[in-house]
Amino acid sequence: MKIYNFREVSSTNEYAKDLLESNELICVTALNQTNGKGRNQNNWFGSFGNNIYMSFGITHKVECSAEKLSSFQAVGALTVKRTLEKLSSEIVCKLKYPNDVYVKFNDSFRKISGILVEHGFSGSNCIYTIIGIGINVNESKFPDSLSQTAISLKMLGVNHKIEMINDIIIEEFEKLFGIDYKEITNLWSKELNIFNKEIRVMNKSQNELFNVKEIMNDGRLKLINVKNEVVIIDNGDTIRYNLD
Ligand code: BTN
Repeated sequence: MKIYNFREVSSTNEYAKDLLESNELICVTALNQTNGKGRNQNNWFGSFGNNIYMSFGITHKVECSAEKLSSFQAVGALTVKRTLEKLSSEIVCKLKYPNDVYVKFNDSFRKISGILVEHGFSGSNCIYTIIGIGINVNESKFPDSLSQTAISLKMLGVNHKIEMINDIIIEEFEKLFGIDYKEITNLWSKELNIFNKEIRVMNKSQNELFNVKEIMNDGRLKLINVKNEVVIIDNGDTIRYNLD
């Protein structure tokens, strides 16, 4: 894997897409992003030199099934969880479907990392995948809109250099990337720990409670309620549940 370290880019995901044109497997890191991207067209907040901004770019030489493509979000989430657990044995870390990473802070959980997975297609064929990882490391103040929900390692009392964390992420990513995708999906669904929980679905037509019926092969959640109605979820922002 070729590693590119930059001082500043617009978005490591966008830069990785450009660099994949001349590489098969890459990692792009930056000290700063001027236009960091979150899911659902949101911006990703982060100040200069204080956080992890990293993207892995993978070129697909053979056709990828929906199951395999969905396993990349699991690789991202598991990479972050394992990295955090290596940094401190005190951190209580949970995955929130599909790939947000939360940590325990006082009596609740706060988001410490977000992962943006993007696929590039030629017709119906996926030709590349980008796994973008943001981790809040030395941020000490978040904007008002995030101040009750976000947290950094520093705010948890864990102090480490960005470069050292980057090295651990790459090490953990390489280990997980080498594992068969079915096994990755198994590891991920165990970590999600979402069965037997009440899931509140928040969308225009419904705001009611469901349970998980199954995690489908392509990573989507099949939920069922007491009236035996089924909904399929592929976006974690539309559901709420207790991470404990
Ligand atoms: C989310 O909304 O939770 C996903 C956030 C992903 C942020 C990371 S930071 C590195 C990479 N580059 C980007 O522009 N976004 C991802």
